[in-house]
Amino acid sequence: MRNKIVAGNWKMHKTLTESQALITEIRGIIRDEFRANTAEVVVCPTTLALPSSVKLVEGSSIFVGAQNVHQETQGAFTGEISAAMIASVGATHVIVGHSERRQYFNETNSACALKNKSSFAAGLTVLYCVGETLEERETEQHWAVIEKQIEEGLTGITSEEMHKMVIAYEPVWAIGTGKTASSAQAQEVHAFIRSLLNKKFGEPVAEATRILYGGSVKPDNAAELFAQPDIDGGLIGGASLKARDFFEIVKAAG
Ligand code: 13P
Repeated sequence: MRNKIVAGNWKMHKTLTESQALITEIRGIIRDEFRANTAEVVVCPTTLALPSSVKLVEGSSIFVGAQNVHQETQGAFTGEISAAMIASVGATHVIVGHSERRQYFNETNSACALKNKSSFAAGLTVLYCVGETLEERETEQHWAVIEKQIEEGLTGITSEEMHKMVIAYEPVWAIGTGKTASSAQAQEVHAFIRSLLNKKFGEPVAEATRILYGGSVKPDNAAELFAQPDIDGGLIGGASLKARDFFEIVKAAG
């Protein structure tokens, strides 16, 4: 039985004060209304808010993650942040390969593989994002695109390291558009990703790896998505910026 995950990707939203207010609100609602939550809850605020967020969730079941990491352990890489730096402030998760980073910052599958590797070395859990654009889906290239993202992005990753790997399927055409993949569309791709993991790492790893869906997940569609056999939770953008909506999605995951 795979434990579900609901992770909020706050992207470039919220100042430090606003981040602290939101995390405090999320923590409060979960504490007061849903103590028995079994899903792993992760929030990924701006890097600047990581240390204070870690302090604010202390003693709760909420984890804190970063939205990006540099692949090298240290060096002359102005403006970048290493996995060890993320771990040093108490964050436990990191998002790698988000489509916005692929699109606007030219992040490639091979860079993702290095980022995944260095994140595992620092003990972080990785939320590795894959997903096709609208054009790729309309031209039926999505299977090949996703296969390449999994194959190349997991290059050099061992079965042991896969225990700390979570895959997030985020079709680009569903991100921030209000247009969700149907639960059947998402399930189909999730099952495909699991079959790729099976081929690459064998059945035990494939069966144990959590695969999240992301792209316009909202309180009113979360339960149906999460009920699919291969959907193990969600990576939430817009709705994670509203404590009540995020909480409703956490509740849908159980
Ligand atoms: P939305 O939930 O706003 O569509 O964003 C999804 C996403 O990109 C999460 O990483």
